[in-house]
Amino acid sequence: MRVEPVAWRDGVVRLLDQTRLPDQVVIEEFDDWRDVAQAIREMKVRGAPAIGIAAAYGLVLASRSLPEDIHAFRKAFGEVCQAFAQTRPTAVNLFWAIERLQAVVQSSETVAEARERLLQAAHAILQEDHKADRQMADFGVALLPEGARVLTICNTGALATGGIGTALGIIRVAHEQGKLQRVYACETRPRLQGLRLTAWELLQEGIPFYLIADSVAGSLMAQGQVDAVIVGADRIARNGDTANKIGTYTLAVLAHYHRVPFYVAAPISTIDLQTPSGTQIPVEQRDPTELTHISGLRIAPEGTPALNPAFDITPAELITAIITERGVARPPYEESLSQLCSTAN
Ligand code: MRU
Repeated sequence: MRVEPVAWRDGVVRLLDQTRLPDQVVIEEFDDWRDVAQAIREMKVRGAPAIGIAAAYGLVLASRSLPEDIHAFRKAFGEVCQAFAQTRPTAVNLFWAIERLQAVVQSSETVAEARERLLQAAHAILQEDHKADRQMADFGVALLPEGARVLTICNTGALATGGIGTALGIIRVAHEQGKLQRVYACETRPRLQGLRLTAWELLQEGIPFYLIADSVAGSLMAQGQVDAVIVGADRIARNGDTANKIGTYTLAVLAHYHRVPFYVAAPISTIDLQTPSGTQIPVEQRDPTELTHISGLRIAPEGTPALNPAFDITPAELITAIITERGVARPPYEESLSQLCSTAN
């Protein structure tokens, strides 16, 4: 089964509702951009690249109902962009996609031209991401030893991107090439992307893995059972500090202590050269009930106060390398990332 988290069909946006996986595979159709924005907020579509793609198609939808005068159109389009920008603050692919589409509107002379070019731009974002994943996988697999045992967190697979995935794409190609022994998939509390989504994808691909509780990672590394940690990213600052799913920083500290290579895999669209370091990356705080409740059922005592940051920041010094579609960046990242961003694909 080909996993397609976001698609455009006959003038509507189709999203595979990831909140219902793994038990139900439900594709929802959207003809109102506000519902697409809400779906991003609710994480029906999630994963940094997929969020960017969904927002791009959401903006295409919006463009169909905006004023016919180009000046009024540009103004109204800017307001819709603002609304999308407020859905999830950490994944920079969202802002990258919005800016790309805004540039299209600014450089269009008529509304008809803007509408047509917006759709082309959204398709291009999806196709480029598809291609980037494959290129990233080739660079990533080359870093792994034969018979690699790889630990990962969250879901960075086909559900999270326009292609085979970032970290999970590398894992998938390593498996195809016979280089992978097994994956350890962290369950990823509280939204359980590892348990629900990564496990679902790995089972479909027939990739050997063990699901583990997040707290198991350290003891596995201490036993010498992990050859590499590969994670995705929601935003990579200019100095290499990386925002990714909460728990990633803990894995990086553990990997450093146990001398296990720690790789970040992400497309160039996740690199944010405007943000100097991790301290300037906004970290999304989500509803505490994501922690106190499971599937709508309260597990914690009533009235329990809970902190629920969705992401953490891994300092660049803990990252062995950053794998992109244009090559592998090594420290010092300030130089290597700027260089990769300025090279043509
Ligand atoms: O909150 P989520 O599920 O959107 O978080 C996803 C992650 O943290 C991923 O690791 C990241 O977006 C990269 S997806 C290729």
